[in-house]
This record gives sequence, structure tokens and C-alpha cells, in this order.
Amino acid sequence: MKITLIAKFAAGALALALSGAQAQTIVKFSHVVADATPKGQAALKFKELAEKKLPGKVTVQVFPSSQLFGDAKELEALLLGDVHFIAPSLSKFDRYTKKIQVFDLPFLFDDIDAVDSFQSGPNGKALLESMKARGLLGLAYWHNGMKQLSTSKDVLKRPDDVKGLKFRIQASDVLEAQFRALNSNPQKMAFSEVYQALQTGVVEGQENTWSNIYSQKFFEVQKTIAETNHGIIDYMVVTNVKWWDGLPADVKKGLSEAMAEATAYGNKLANDINEADKKKIAEAGKAKIQKLSKEDVAAWRKAMEPVWKKFEGDIGRDPIDAALKSNK
Ligand code: LMR
Repeated sequence: MKITLIAKFAAGALALALSGAQAQTIVKFSHVVADATPKGQAALKFKELAEKKLPGKVTVQVFPSSQLFGDAKELEALLLGDVHFIAPSLSKFDRYTKKIQVFDLPFLFDDIDAVDSFQSGPNGKALLESMKARGLLGLAYWHNGMKQLSTSKDVLKRPDDVKGLKFRIQASDVLEAQFRALNSNPQKMAFSEVYQALQTGVVEGQENTWSNIYSQKFFEVQKTIAETNHGIIDYMVVTNVKWWDGLPADVKKGLSEAMAEATAYGNKLANDINEADKKKIAEAGKAKIQKLSKEDVAAWRKAMEPVWKKFEGDIGRDPIDAALKSNK
């Protein structure tokens, strides 16, 4: 009797010690947008699913709105191990791989379905793995939507209307070339600084999705938003290769599953969020939404054409052709 009790106690102690040995993994996920956006919603879903699949083993802390790290710092922080997941827009990786610039080519993708189909193909999949030597592993693509152009001016219909204007751009050389082709002045700037820069006139315009224009209140400090759909904002969820490879097998499996499910959830929502936010912007009546005719769109397309030539060499013909094929 006594011996069984002692044996039981010892077994319990051993179990405790073992569970103590696999300490809780704290997973930090940092991003720059609001919770109510496609990326914000997908990140929260990932937290919910990961904690459900790995009870007591994993706690996911989501830091939205550049609270932990902004644009300028998040990639460095990931490489230093200060954060475990980030989901920068595809425009923000060009220091790590030139091929990813394909996503920034103006008027390449007709819509997010085309982007999705490209990402699920061999070129898209290869890009997820293309930064491994630099310490970054892509786990998924998350959608936002098509970019619209906005300025502090009353008229925004044709490329001439942005001549000489200062635009905030994401840190991408392709986007810089795009605004130079429009004879305007691009300025690379972190996302968290854009509202104030627009408000104070440091820049006069920007390009973004409806969900970002709404959640950041850009529509309150811009006069006109032209429905150009000239490019995309989409994301790659990346992690630190060393950290990821060092995770216990069960944690890695649970996080991978949670990521796949959160991706499906968020990507299904993205379009609806953008459409709803466009409606809210229209209802607010602060910025005018400028519809464009086929001829207007053709003029923007033509003005931005030189960008393709400039980056074709770095990107390679193969991804560009695959992207073109993904348009239905
Ligand atoms: C931007 O900087 O405008 C966007 O990339 C922000 C985001 O993450 O959607």
C-alpha cells in the first residue's frame, strides 16, 4: 500500500517535472494595422485557434497598430527574436528578395482572386521559401485588397492631376518608380506616420486599400479618393527560421494548423471588409469617391507602364507571365 502510494507520488512528480520541462511558449505576433482590418482579424483568429489547439502550451500575444514594432523595425525585430510572427505587406520585403517585387507592378493583377491563384501556384510557393537564407520563412499569404489613390485635391481623374504632388509610399523601389512615372514626388514613410503626414500636408496623397483608408481615417484628411484599383496590398506572414525550427514538434504542428485555418478565414473576409469600409467612407461624406471611366483607367495604366520595363530584369519573366495568366 505504502509502496503504491510512493510510486504514485513519484509518477505525479515526474509528470509535473516533465510538463514543467515543456514550458509554455509565448508567441508574439506584431502588425501595423487595426484589429478590424483583414490582417487584424486573421491575426486574432490565429491566436484563438492556436490557443485552442495547444491548451496550456502556447499563449499568443497579438500587438496591432504598430504598438510593439512599426514598419521600420518589425523585420529586424523578427530576425533578433524579439517577435515571432509578423505579416508585412509584400511591398516591404524588397531588401530580402527582388522577385517579390512582382506584386508591386502596377495593373498586373485584375483582382485579389488572381493574386490568390498566383500565390497558390509554383511561383507564389517558391517565394514563401525564398528568404530562408536571410532567416525569414514565409508561412502564408494573407489578403487585403486593391489599392486606391487619394489626394488632398478636388480633382483626381487622370495622371496629370497628380503631377508634382507629394505621395507617401511604402518602402518599395517599385512604388517609388510608379510615382516618378506619374511625375509626382514619392516619399517612403512608415504606416503609423501617414495620417499625421496627410493632415499636416507633409504629403498630399497616398495609395491604400479601402480598409486601411477607413481604419486609419485617411478619408478625413483627403479630399478625393479615385477608384483606380491600380495595385494590391497583400501580406506574407513570416517567422524566424531558427525559432520555428527549434519549436517542439507538437507546437509546430498546432501552430501550422492554426495558421492554415486563420489564413482561410481571413482571406474569405478580406473582400467584404474592404467593400463595407468603402461604403462607410462614402456615407461619411468627407472625401469624394471618384469613379473612373475605362478611358481614365487606360490613361493611368499607360502612365505607369515604364515601371514594368524597369523591374522586369530583377523580377524575371517567369513570375510576371504566371501572374498575367492568373487573371481570368
Ligand atoms: C501600408 O504601409 O500602407 C500597408 O502596408 C499597411 C498594412 O500593413 O496594410
